[in-house]
Amino acid sequence: MEPLTVALPKGRMQDQVLDLFRAARYPTDQNATGSRKLIFKDASGRLRFVLAKPADVPIYVEYGAADLGVVGEDVLRESDRDLYEPLMLGLARCHLALAGPPEMRHRNLRLETGLRVASKYPRLSRNYFQRQGIAAEIIPLSGSVELAPFLGLADLLVDLVETGRTLRENGLVELATIMESQAALVVNRASHKLRLKTIQELIGNLATEVARRRDEEQGE
Ligand code: PRP
Repeated sequence: MEPLTVALPKGRMQDQVLDLFRAARYPTDQNATGSRKLIFKDASGRLRFVLAKPADVPIYVEYGAADLGVVGEDVLRESDRDLYEPLMLGLARCHLALAGPPEMRHRNLRLETGLRVASKYPRLSRNYFQRQGIAAEIIPLSGSVELAPFLGLADLLVDLVETGRTLRENGLVELATIMESQAALVVNRASHKLRLKTIQELIGNLATEVARRRDEEQGE
C-alpha cells in the first residue's frame, strides 16, 4: 500500500508535531531540528512526511499533493481552503491579537481615520476590522510585523502571540484578542473517501494520544 503523504509545517511547530506522531505510534528517525531533509517516512512506512512552509500546507492538502496536513488554525482560517478538519491537536496554542504602541490604548479606533494595520494575516485582519466597524487599511507583510509601528509603516499590527515576549521586548501592548489558535489536522476530501480506513486509523491513533495528553494535563 502507498504511504499516506502528510504535510507538516516547517519551523516552530515541527518538533512538537513529530513528537505527537511518534507518541501515536508513527515514529521517525528524523532529527527534525538538525536535518535539512524535506521528505522522510515513519518507521513502519505507512506515512510519508513532507515539510512545507506553514502557509503552504493547506494548499498542498487541498490540491491532493498531500493527503493530510498539520497547520495552525490561524493559518488555516487565513487560507480559507476547502479541507476536512477532523481533529484539533492541542499543540502550539497561541492567539491572534491586535497590538500597537501603549498610547493606542486610549484611542477610540472607530473614530480614527487613515488607520493602517500591518499583518501576515490580511484576510483575518480585514474581517476583524469590518466586524468591529473600524475603517483601516491592511498592509500585508510576511514577517517581523512588530517593526511596522516603529518605522511609521502602520499604526497597529495583527500578529500571533504565544508567550507575549516579542511584543514586550518591542514596547508594544495587546489591544484585543482576535482568535485563539492551536494546531489542527486537515485532510484532503478526496483522499478521505479513497483511503477511508487508513486515514480513520491515523485520526483515531492521534485522537487517543491527544486525549491522553489532555487528561494528563488536567491531572486525571
Ligand atoms: C511569531 C509571531 C510573533 C512571535 C510571537 O513570529 O509572528 O512575532 O512569533 O511569539 P511570542 O509571543 O512567544 O514572542 P515568528 O517567530 O514565527 O517569526 P516572524 O515574525 O518572522 O513570522
